[in-house]
Amino acid sequence: MADERRIAIGVDVGGSGVKVGAVDIRTGELVGDRRRVATPQPSTPDAVVAVIARLVERFSKAAGALETAGAPVGVGVPCVVIDGVTRTAANIDAGWVDFDAGAALAAAIGRPVAVLNDADAAGLAEMRFGAGAGVSGTVLVLTLGTGLGSGMFLDGRLFPNTELGHMEIRGRDAERRSASSARTRRGLSWKAWAADLDEHLHAIDRLLWPNLIILGGGVSKSADRFLGRLTVRPPVVAAALRNDAGIVGAAMAAAERAPTAAGPDPGPVGRMILGAAPPIPTRHDAGRPSSEDSFDDR
Ligand code: BGC
Repeated sequence: MADERRIAIGVDVGGSGVKVGAVDIRTGELVGDRRRVATPQPSTPDAVVAVIARLVERFSKAAGALETAGAPVGVGVPCVVIDGVTRTAANIDAGWVDFDAGAALAAAIGRPVAVLNDADAAGLAEMRFGAGAGVSGTVLVLTLGTGLGSGMFLDGRLFPNTELGHMEIRGRDAERRSASSARTRRGLSWKAWAADLDEHLHAIDRLLWPNLIILGGGVSKSADRFLGRLTVRPPVVAAALRNDAGIVGAAMAAAERAPTAAGPDPGPVGRMILGAAPPIPTRHDAGRPSSEDSFDDR
């Protein structure tokens, strides 16, 4: 049983490409090659869901039916995701707003699918297997790609759906200057772009005071061109899993959400996500109002 569930399939939907890989979730390593196809344009839910379903099917056949048939599937998308429903659509077609991606993907693929924000997925992988492993306190995993995504962790647990790419800096959406695509779109040198990214990191630091910032996304492979130019207070390191973190984290989330004999135990990944583990009782659950509750009624 344990061995059967070793492999999960992770899908990472980006602004330019959709990537899929099979992941050994005990080690975080990709099993075999990953595949990538261009993100359909326009990137409507129907078009992207169809591409993911085709990719997973073809990939499963090529990767060895025995290992991947029936393997749980996780999909990271560039959206806020609440209970499988995508709520925002910054670098993807507007049709994703309030789209039940979990249900649509499960119907298209024919098995349960875990859907989560792409940067949250990358963060889960970095915190378990990469640059954040064992780091306590506040850790931010920022993915720099078409947009700028954020995964925020406190003592290894994810606070899901933070959207630090959309802070306002100099009157603009911050990711328009600090995402990796901003460098190419604006034809900037690494030095000029690093200054814009640095300004964003300083603004984040003033609000959240993280212990560590991990930078991921495609640009992490060129970390030597800009890391040394950053002046922000906390240490900033490149993601250890580079651009594969999104695939690995999506697979981790999938493996965890597949039904297990463990019952209500959310498992190690579930315990990494605030809100996925059983809630801590609040004073409202205690059955009687506290003096604070009755204050407004007097
Ligand atoms: C989206 C985020 C996403 C990030 C990286 C942003 O524009 O709002 O949800 O994580 O891009 O893809």
